[in-house]
Amino acid sequence: MIHPLTYVNSVEEIQTRIQSLQADKVAVLVDTNTEQHCFKEIVSALPQGSQVFTVPAGEESKSLSTVEALIEKMSRAGYSRQSLLICLGGGVVTDLGGLVAGLFHRGIRYMHIPTTLLAQVDAAIGGKNGVNVGKIKNIAGLFTQAEDILVWPYLLRTLPQRELISGMAETVKHALIADTGLWAQLQNADLGSPKIAVSTLRRSAAIKMAVVKEDVNEKGLRKVLNFGHTLGHAIEAFMQLNKTPILHGEAVAVGMMAAAVLSREISNFAPAACTEVIAMLKRNYPLPTVSQRDAQAIVALTKRDKKLEAGTVKFVLLSSFGQAGFGYEVSDEQMLSALAEIGMIQAA
Ligand SMILES: NC(=O)c1ccc[n+]([C@@H]2O[C@H](COP(=O)([O-])OP(=O)(O)OC[C@H]3O[C@@H](n4cnc5c(N)ncnc54)[C@H](O)[C@@H]3O)[C@@H](O)[C@H]2O)c1
Repeated sequence: MIHPLTYVNSVEEIQTRIQSLQADKVAVLVDTNTEQHCFKEIVSALPQGSQVFTVPAGEESKSLSTVEALIEKMSRAGYSRQSLLICLGGGVVTDLGGLVAGLFHRGIRYMHIPTTLLAQVDAAIGGKNGVNVGKIKNIAGLFTQAEDILVWPYLLRTLPQRELISGMAETVKHALIADTGLWAQLQNADLGSPKIAVSTLRRSAAIKMAVVKEDVNEKGLRKVLNFGHTLGHAIEAFMQLNKTPILHGEAVAVGMMAAAVLSREISNFAPAACTEVIAMLKRNYPLPTVSQRDAQAIVALTKRDKKLEAGTVKFVLLSSFGQAGFGYEVSDEQMLSALAEIGMIQAA
């Protein structure tokens, strides 16, 4: 069962939610940044004796070795099946903590308190928890639902602007796949503005929640949420391997530019709409450039994506603003040509 999102405005409200779960012990998972900036905001909501487990900030913490280390620490500290894990952080902490909670004692209750925009509108919603293995993102995981997802927009005030803009990529995605009104609101907006982020937060999160509720285990409809993510994940992984990492939302933004071109070529997305999407994304997100050879490596990485079905890469594409479909087959040549058209491939 998926629990609704709860928007809170004070630490007292968080305390009430934690108390209502009557856990025998409470653990809080943070990363080094949320420990510094966010933990102090919620500490008074925690019962006495709660322990904090800190992982290094960054995608590298989403690993099976971190999962193992956390499970060992929680076991040694006497956490039981009646305990509660609170994940206080961005998508890294919520993905990792959700998986730890799903595995520890075959599953304990967990609560998300997302602290990045990306996690408030996307990663913390839907119970898709997982870690990366080698080059492959989110390949090991579980579907397990949080007991509570508490969204406190106040926690965003310390978030660096680059992270805020990265999170807005998921709101842009929600607009493109499901909400023409939201797209109209965003089209000429400055995506680095906290005002825009907060004013679109609920609408964006509601789209994710509505899709997830229809298809909890991603058998069909939920796949539309992967718009921009097939090439986006491959670009993110490639840049990481290349030691020039970019943020998740930045990679998804480039993936959406390429997906707009593919939508025009394959699913009748209007050429003017495609141009509009690319222009908006280019105004707000950096476009990394790579050689033809590197672009081929990126395309090869899409074959490692979870969205591979029967050996072919399947894409989510748009047929118009607010209308997305899934299961479109896309060839390597079409992907390369889309990356070239958006200007990502530099001549040698
Ligand atoms: N499960 C899902 O459905 C889903 C959906 C989208 C993304 N994701 C995953 O989410 C991850 C990306 O999430 P993210 O962008 O939140 O990254 P993140 O968790 O790495 O957070 C980004 C950075 O902001 C810092 N930070 C977090 N909150 C802060 C705050 N309030 N003040 C100051 N600094 C703060 C973090 O320490 C980190 O350095 C990826 O691993 C991605 O795969 C999962």
